[in-house]
Amino acid sequence: MRPRILKIDPLNVDLELMKQAAEVISNRGLVAFPTETVYGLGANALDPKAVSGIFEAKKRPLDDPLIVHIAELKTIEELVTKVPEEARWLMDKFWPGPLTVVLEKKEIVPDIVTTGLDTVAIRMPSNSIAKKLIELSGVPIAAPSANLFGRPSPTTAEHVVDDLNGRIDLVLDGGKTDIGIESTVVECAENKVIVLRPGGISLEDLKVVVKDKLIVREERSSDRSPGKYPQHYSPEAQVVVVERSGAQTEEVRALYSQKGTGNLKVGIMTSQEHLSFYKGLHAKVLGPENDGRVSASRLFHIFREFDKEKFDVIIVEAIPEKGLGLAVMNRIRKAAGSI
Ligand code: TXA
Ligand code: MG
Repeated sequence: MRPRILKIDPLNVDLELMKQAAEVISNRGLVAFPTETVYGLGANALDPKAVSGIFEAKKRPLDDPLIVHIAELKTIEELVTKVPEEARWLMDKFWPGPLTVVLEKKEIVPDIVTTGLDTVAIRMPSNSIAKKLIELSGVPIAAPSANLFGRPSPTTAEHVVDDLNGRIDLVLDGGKTDIGIESTVVECAENKVIVLRPGGISLEDLKVVVKDKLIVREERSSDRSPGKYPQHYSPEAQVVVVERSGAQTEEVRALYSQKGTGNLKVGIMTSQEHLSFYKGLHAKVLGPENDGRVSASRLFHIFREFDKEKFDVIIVEAIPEKGLGLAVMNRIRKAAGSI
């Protein structure tokens, strides 16, 4: 069964429709809703039964913890034992917005949300529809991205329906999301701020606030323990990355010919600046080479377009790993299975 879809204008949020959505949450249902990053699949975070529905609908392994979304700063006191000074600075600066902060949890947060960890991930989204949904529901909302596990995160309501048709109760269609990739996740402990996932807030911006307390761990495939899920954010097509160099476009062209010798349909994801090197080849533009923001907003959409058009291989030009470009390359390398 197709889920019910309610179109909501983020600039003029319809209260009556939002009340219907809040009622679904109260009845232990699942509501997909837009945030400024990607669409989330929400349930009452304080109700283990409701939360278990999220894992089922997404086919998500039970050892992958969820983010709890709040609408007001004071809610945090109910959920965590303490808020260290560094966490407070980050919240002051970046909330509401695409930053998730991991802190020591209180008993009230069910184990299924945190998969048994003694910490909980918390985020205050800025999207007006997300905010209203949390407010009217009167509870914090647990929400992972509203995709099937392992698929690219959804940036439109259509992506949500493509993945979760028949598996959820309601979709709030607030149009395309702004940022297009997920939030930055940091853990605040022992006076340090550890980046667990790059995302919608750049490391450069975090550093301005927390200075030398920032710790960035290099992700390496050798660090991966079983159950740490390599093929994240992946399109069906095989993703191959061509690193940046003076010969990047030549390498892409050579790989294109090599991969395309069988019956395989091969595509290229290129910077705007390099498009003219690929005349007559299947190429889609990710964005201007040095604008991570544009690339972030288009990445998952383009992955899904390649899938819809039944491509077998996507050759991706690496972009500079600064600003949001870092998070973009993180998602691309995960899709390629190289981290
Ligand atoms: O932008 C976003 O963050 C979106 C929107 C919907 O808010 N949500 C999202 O959720 O991307 P999800 O479930 O796809 O990713 C949550 C990430 C995972 O990498 C998970 O491992 C991490 O947050 N996480 C959650 N709780 C954690 C915890 N207690 N400790 C460490 N990592 C945690
Ligand atoms: Mg996800």
